Amino acid sequence: MLTILLNSAGEAPADILIFFGRIHPLVVHLPIGFLLLAVLVEVVAKRPKFQPLGNFTHYLWALGSLSALVAVVLGYFLSLSGDYSENTLFWHKWVGVSVFVFSLGCYYISKKQLKLPFYGKSLLIGLVVFAVFYTGHLGGNLTHGSTYLLEYAPNVVRNLAGMPDKAVPRKKVTVLDSADVYLDLISPIMDSRCVSCHNKDKKKGDLDLTTFSSLMAGGESGEILIPGDLNSSDLYRRITLPESHDDFMPSEGKPPLSEEEVTLIGWWISAQAPAEGYFTALNPDQEMQDLVEKYLGLDKNKLLNQQVEAPNPNVVDSLTNLGFILNPLMIDNHFLEANFSLSEHEFTDKASETLLLLKDQIIWLNLSNSGIEDGHLQKIGQLENIIKLNLSKNEISDEGLTYLSNLTNLESLNLYKTSISVGLLEVIPKLTNLKRLYISETMADSTVVNQLQQHKDLRIEFD
Ligand code: HEC
Repeated sequence: MLTILLNSAGEAPADILIFFGRIHPLVVHLPIGFLLLAVLVEVVAKRPKFQPLGNFTHYLWALGSLSALVAVVLGYFLSLSGDYSENTLFWHKWVGVSVFVFSLGCYYISKKQLKLPFYGKSLLIGLVVFAVFYTGHLGGNLTHGSTYLLEYAPNVVRNLAGMPDKAVPRKKVTVLDSADVYLDLISPIMDSRCVSCHNKDKKKGDLDLTTFSSLMAGGESGEILIPGDLNSSDLYRRITLPESHDDFMPSEGKPPLSEEEVTLIGWWISAQAPAEGYFTALNPDQEMQDLVEKYLGLDKNKLLNQQVEAPNPNVVDSLTNLGFILNPLMIDNHFLEANFSLSEHEFTDKASETLLLLKDQIIWLNLSNSGIEDGHLQKIGQLENIIKLNLSKNEISDEGLTYLSNLTNLESLNLYKTSISVGLLEVIPKLTNLKRLYISETMADSTVVNQLQQHKDLRIEFD
């Protein structure tokens, strides 16, 4: 039966064996438990008080060695899947077998109550303990990689084990010009999406994607990346296949790479897949630069990253007196929300002039239903830090809208129930960061909306 299942060498093992093999990591805990309990009982039974326990140790050794045998057999099945590093596997297998052999020996000695010379039994028990721990450790390395255990250990401990100091994590990129093409763009993708299956110890497809050189070394079918040649690069082919395809990576139903990640990898391969160097030194076009800025999260934070001064309290007072409600938006910075929508006062030129005195701080401005007219927007349009602007329910038209063309930080613009119309087509494209636009119940018709919709990333609320 077993010979049928095991086939001749070189052929893929039967699924049923791999199925049972995968129970191995669960079953191995049984011999560990039984054997360590046997050792414990052997030790305490030396004290007169616990001596009677000594009559039962051979049961524990029997359970231990029997479960060790089961674990060995299942482990052998699992090893047939061929996904493990050869050398570690060799030692894990044979030290595992020795656990079985030694514990069987202990069973025999206990059962027959043999007295061995030279502390023979204690030595054998010591060997069992050593073998259990050592093979368990190797097994851990096989599943998690040999760096797993000490990954977070203090450097002293790592050095004792012959490992280098912990890698200092790369500093977060804050400006595009400092981004390294491999270390900051490609390597993080591999680390988060591929390395769990393609590392030094667990090399699926005989491929290790942890470093540039191991990536270039390729896998079982040879090179996986030909610099400058997307069509011959197996790596690129596999991440762009339909998800249902057998060769698709990441495999086993893991979520596919995002569109940005695929574009980025494709671009890198086309740019000759350099191992290092600044991204911007490779002359990426504007679209690619935008993509990378977004990918590194540099697009949104630019404004919010800068520290602004505390607002002048006198200005805050006068705005409050004019009918504004001011709210701080962050604990560690002085950005403000200014809200006039609940005010019973009339919006005056004085109000917009005073707002300008807090030009740096105000990033949200709510002027809904505030009696705003086109003329007022001339000043409002100078509040260049505004990210969110609500102008709904005001008598404003295309003429006033043009004053807003410089608000390039604007991400959300609410023009609900205003009289704007085709003027949007001129102004909206200039608001390069705009993500949301509310234009229900305006004069804008669906032709206008259709044209606006061609701008990527812009969500339009329109009925
Ligand atoms: C869940 C595990 C898993 C993940 C995650 C994974 N792979 Fe794989 N990969 C495999 C297996 C298994 C094979 C071997 C079977 C095959 O060739 O399809 C393989 C093979 C490959 C090969 C072919 C190697 C050769 O020479 O035959 C490439 C290239 C590859 N993977 C790239 C990737 C990339 C890139 C990622 C990340 C986007 C990734 N893999 C993520 C499991 C995985």
